[in-house]
Amino acid sequence: MCGIVGYIGKRDVAPLLLEGLQRLEYRGYDSAGVVITSPKTPGLKMVKAKGRVRDLEARVPKRFAGTTGIAHTRWATHGAPSDENAHPHLDAENKVAVVHNGIIDNATDLRAKLVADGVEFLSETDTEVLTHLIARSQAPTLEEKVREALRLVEGTYGIAVLHADFTDRIVVARNGSPVVLGIGEKEMFVASDVAALVSHTRQVVTLDDGEMATIKADDFRTYTTEGSRTTASPTTVEWEAESYDMGGHDTYMHKEISEQVDAVDRVLRGRIDDRFSTVHLGGLNLDAREARTIRRVKILGCGTSYHAGLIGAGLIEELARIPADAEPASEFRYRNAVVDPDTLYVAVSQSGETYDALAAVQELKRKGARVLGVVNVVGSAIARETDGGVYVHAGPEVCVVSTKCFTNTVVAFALLALHLGRIRDLSVADGKRLIAGLRKLPDQIAEVLQQEGEIKKLAEEYAGAQSMMFIGRVRGYPVALEASLKLKEISYIHAEAYPASELKHGPLALIEPALPTVAIVPDDDLLEKNRAALEEIKARSGRILAVAHQEQEKADHTIVVPKNETELDPILMGIPLQLFAYHTALAMGRDIDKPRNLAKSVTVE
Ligand code: F6R
Repeated sequence: MCGIVGYIGKRDVAPLLLEGLQRLEYRGYDSAGVVITSPKTPGLKMVKAKGRVRDLEARVPKRFAGTTGIAHTRWATHGAPSDENAHPHLDAENKVAVVHNGIIDNATDLRAKLVADGVEFLSETDTEVLTHLIARSQAPTLEEKVREALRLVEGTYGIAVLHADFTDRIVVARNGSPVVLGIGEKEMFVASDVAALVSHTRQVVTLDDGEMATIKADDFRTYTTEGSRTTASPTTVEWEAESYDMGGHDTYMHKEISEQVDAVDRVLRGRIDDRFSTVHLGGLNLDAREARTIRRVKILGCGTSYHAGLIGAGLIEELARIPADAEPASEFRYRNAVVDPDTLYVAVSQSGETYDALAAVQELKRKGARVLGVVNVVGSAIARETDGGVYVHAGPEVCVVSTKCFTNTVVAFALLALHLGRIRDLSVADGKRLIAGLRKLPDQIAEVLQQEGEIKKLAEEYAGAQSMMFIGRVRGYPVALEASLKLKEISYIHAEAYPASELKHGPLALIEPALPTVAIVPDDDLLEKNRAALEEIKARSGRILAVAHQEQEKADHTIVVPKNETELDPILMGIPLQLFAYHTALAMGRDIDKPRNLAKSVTVE
């Protein structure tokens, strides 16, 4: 998804901005651009290019000096990827430059009015409307010009604005799309994602919706879009700049799959309480008395986070005996759901910025619900909008597709379920048993990762398939859903996930030798039922790859994973299938870290 980076200080700005854009490449984009200026040589100098940041870099002229600038990677919404549609957008007099993340909903109406007034548009974007509105404002300061323009627009935005007549500042604003200020020594940065800042500063200020800021080389101030001053509280980003590097791996996806031993260790660290056979979750803001009054739990998230939420709902229902379910946040927010005061709502998100999930949280809060967050990015919008929550501590997830964060989120849910369970009816003995199981996870994950060589061979064998079926039962079904999503996202092989119990109600019609099935077959109370499903597939000459705790006779191949406590089995069973998706895509020559049509952090509708 689109990325913003900006700088004001004494350094040569173009290389800094290009480096920042490279740090944002992981989010997915189709074009990029940069505009710079400096108090000594005021005018605006701009370069844009369709394609990658390196294409932009190739176009930057030798003499392109400046000390202030803003830059952007664009993910097309209004208008196809092209040089013209790339940001920044300038007004006719080359005075105002705007970069924008988000969508201006009333852009068509505003554009028509501006055109009727004689404004000539150079792009098809919604953003250019903002540029002209700012340029036409008669207000005396840049802040007021921007404010006047924003009053006219409806929609979501994170923007950065540069003006040739006010070269000592950059003005930024946020409504629905992240904007983070980075505080340096006599220099300031701005970005849509801390990834672009952390190699320069780890002191940041995250803007709230409805907030604006003016950054100057040695100063910044924040205020609302109405103009009242706000208090900015700088925080320190935990993540090191190096954690955004590839660290010797060929892809971020491979790096992040490999990091799961440490990541799971991190989410457990400091949270286990052996004395009471429970876990401490400091940020939950839910005392025992309140926890006992919860009558339902509703988990909301998108994509992989939704799948982690499905497993989480199962864990909460099993361990805490509270009815729980999960629903895509993108659906929930549009169906005027009944909001119940006795239900605990939980929003799940790696980025904490996914617009659909954030909008669901905002709607719930507006209706008075109690909402917790299970979030990876500290200080993200969902983390700030919720009443409390559990940080997932997976570390930065750069790859577009989520892997380590899925695993850590499921572990975080296991902690939440154990915590709620021990407040309610989960026995000390069960608490102890699950804690022992959780402690075993890092070593068991290492065992799974050691099987990469064999999983690679299997992936190469299945890579020719046109389509694949994934099945699982109860705890195994969300694992099947997630594994099928991973495969389609990066290999582009069509994949379907079904509850194994539903096979005979329809999808069995698809089974034939050319359609392999990946089956999740844990050693649990449903083992025989799952084996019966394998029989049904074999009887129709279907090929089967099983992920199980022991070799499965009916399967053509079995990936054997270590057994843990039954409730925690889904955590380990998902990991070999991340490697399976990875090596299938690799065998097919796919660009794994840049899957087609996908972007990290979907911060627009
Ligand atoms: C899949 C994937 C997406 C995200 C989804 C939600 O690999 O990464 O499905 O899980 O867009 O993103 P977050 O978790 O940031 O809210």
